[in-house]
Amino acid sequence: MEKVYVKTFGCQMNVYDSEKIYAFLQDRYLPAAAEDEADLVILNTCSIREKAEQKVYSLLGRLKPLKEEKPDLLIGVGGCVAQQEGERILARAPMVDIVFGTHNIDQLASILEERITSGRRLCRIDEDADRVPTAGAPRAGSRKGPTALLTIMKGCDNFCAYCVVPLVRGREISRSRDEILEEARYLIAHGAKEITLLGQNVNSYREPSTGGGFIDLLESVDALDGLERLRFVTSHPKDFSEGLVHAMAGLPSVCEHIHLPVQAGSDRILAAMRRCYTSGEYLEKVSMLRSLIPEVEITTDIIVGFPGEERADFDRTLSLVDTVGYQNAFSFRFSARPGTAAADLEDPVPHETKRSWLPELQEVQNRITAGKHSSMVGRTVGVLVEGSGRRSNGMLEGRTRNNFIVHFPGSPSMVGCEVDVRILRSRKIHLEGEVVS
Ligand code: 5AD
Ligand code: SF4
Repeated sequence: MEKVYVKTFGCQMNVYDSEKIYAFLQDRYLPAAAEDEADLVILNTCSIREKAEQKVYSLLGRLKPLKEEKPDLLIGVGGCVAQQEGERILARAPMVDIVFGTHNIDQLASILEERITSGRRLCRIDEDADRVPTAGAPRAGSRKGPTALLTIMKGCDNFCAYCVVPLVRGREISRSRDEILEEARYLIAHGAKEITLLGQNVNSYREPSTGGGFIDLLESVDALDGLERLRFVTSHPKDFSEGLVHAMAGLPSVCEHIHLPVQAGSDRILAAMRRCYTSGEYLEKVSMLRSLIPEVEITTDIIVGFPGEERADFDRTLSLVDTVGYQNAFSFRFSARPGTAAADLEDPVPHETKRSWLPELQEVQNRITAGKHSSMVGRTVGVLVEGSGRRSNGMLEGRTRNNFIVHFPGSPSMVGCEVDVRILRSRKIHLEGEVVS
């Protein structure tokens, strides 16, 4: 059988879609371990920031010699860059055989078939399909590890001023509860101990026939036999409710961690971003979380240098970061994305002025993370063992329910088990410890 290699860029939604790509092709292609042993290479692309997009073109450049060496090699480009760029990719990158959009994943096998029989290079992009293309997909037989992703909805209706997601993923569409539960049962039967529910804005999940909301869904998944941990991303602060926090506190499998992207600390900038909350409202939700779930850890996303952002605005972001005490913050320089509302905004604040802000923010966050990490030393925590570390040095890697990454020596037979680990050392990204018998 021929082999396919899928290279994934970007977020967990793309990681999930890549699993589905393998699954939709499994009758014809086995998974390849690397691109140079594949007969078909697919790039599942991300366009959230300009840098992510450039990576796709530079990887395509690197694939050129491989294609020259192996003329039968097929190269496909899917995901968010494909959805936005379409035919332009075929024009710009002559080694590409097919381009397919985010709503066309389920047609991949027939698109490839057509490429082979017609001999023509193809671009297949549906604008906004009112179906979830990954629904009903088979799952590749070879699931790895005890953690699994499960998409519950696609698209986003929020149109934050900087964000390309609504343009490349379309409007919000929720999958049915039955389909989600069926997939969750499948995952658990195949070794998943932890499931992360995915959506651009999970709080606006609506069961298509009953109208049930996200909390109902969370309760149903929590009740499944054999599931130990349940997580979900991403929550929009404007929709993050007290009811959900009560559900998180009350449902045994739901973990004590929330990713709550704040984006900015200045109300003026939040309004310009069209985020629909103020920093005060955000902080109130954080207090509520902390009072109802004492062990909770919070992570966030922040954009630095939005058009018009001045030093005083940025100082408000720094102060908010300090007040919340995030476990981790993913911070990015603003990147103008074609087609978004912020793409054409004038920016009177010089690039030079803003350049140092991102490293400044990261330094503040690193200090907060370091403080959290050192306060964990000496404690014993429950860790779900996800696998062996990247370096095969006898170290295992896992996470606490509240999202601390822990490394410790142990045997591979522990993968998939929850073990008690005493924390001995704190590192920049993770903690190190030993198993307590
Ligand atoms: N520029 C910079 N960062 C962005 N993000 C989304 N769009 C942009 C952009 N145009 C960041 C946001 C989002 C995360 C996934 O990526 O912080 O939460
Ligand atoms: Fe983008 Fe805003 Fe939707 Fe998140 S909520 S995907 S930032 S538009």
